[in-house]
Amino acid sequence: MSARHRVVVARYLPAAGRERLAERFDVDEGTAALDRAELMRRVAGADALVADPTVAVDADLLDAAGPRLRVVANFAVGYDNVDVDACRARRVAVTNTPDVLTNATAELTVALMLAAARRLGEGERLLRAGRWTGWEPGQLLGRELSGAVVGIVGLGRIGTRVAELLRGFGVESLYAARSRHLEAEERLGARHATLEDLLAESDVVTLHAPLTPETRHLIDRDALARMKPGAVLVNTSRGGLVDAAALADALARGRPAAAALDVYEEEPRVPEELLALEQVVLAPHMGSATTAARDGMALLVADNVIAVLGGGAPVTPV
Ligand code: 8YV
Repeated sequence: MSARHRVVVARYLPAAGRERLAERFDVDEGTAALDRAELMRRVAGADALVADPTVAVDADLLDAAGPRLRVVANFAVGYDNVDVDACRARRVAVTNTPDVLTNATAELTVALMLAAARRLGEGERLLRAGRWTGWEPGQLLGRELSGAVVGIVGLGRIGTRVAELLRGFGVESLYAARSRHLEAEERLGARHATLEDLLAESDVVTLHAPLTPETRHLIDRDALARMKPGAVLVNTSRGGLVDAAALADALARGRPAAAALDVYEEEPRVPEELLALEQVVLAPHMGSATTAARDGMALLVADNVIAVLGGGAPVTPV
């Protein structure tokens, strides 16, 4: 009997996916604390590697894995941690987990939008610090989403779901994207705009583009200067889309007025200058952190590995 395929989980895969894999393969379960040297050793001879955005899958890691490696299954929809060209050069398939986390991430986006617009973080900190002295008519006044212009940068799966969820709030939706999405324009009443116009017209700007060399620091000093003075910036995509130092300066000057971030350029480091600002809501990369989304992601990771190691096409290739 031939030896079972070996699947190496770099860090963590929820039980739903782990168990599905373990029925068929030898699974090296991984360690929550990532140790690169240890991973380089563990990955040797693997047929499949399960990675996530905290794991840099580069040529060195692929070479450490060796010629048996057939698939890198990323436990995330974003795959900027994977050197896709280096994988292609070695005939290693790359897969991600679209769809199953779309709604969870879109809902968190709306939650962050509301939290920043209604100053929820400031309010909770005030109360927990024992500094709340009772109801005051002028305290913590924010803005409502109803009637706001919301600019969605990137109208992919998550951006589109955000637009759908926001319909109930009675917002006017704008979107910036490389191509027009006529179906979404018709169904959701979203209006296409250039990024420049979107920044200038929106009361809320929300980012839903992948991190690529083209989108790195898309929101830089110039972009921030185009935003409306009272506007809110929300980022649940990748930290690298925003120049955090420029954002902190812009916020300190009130333009935009507030921000809500779930992602950072060098996670888990959160820039000090942002931590110091009351008007920023800061979440610890929890866009897809629901049980349903994470189980769906884990099962999709497993199905991709099973498909490729079974000689078939990946379910969700990138
Ligand atoms: C992941 C994410 O859950 O899917 C992505 O791209 O950023 C997250 O929602 C997280 O990175 C763990 O894999």
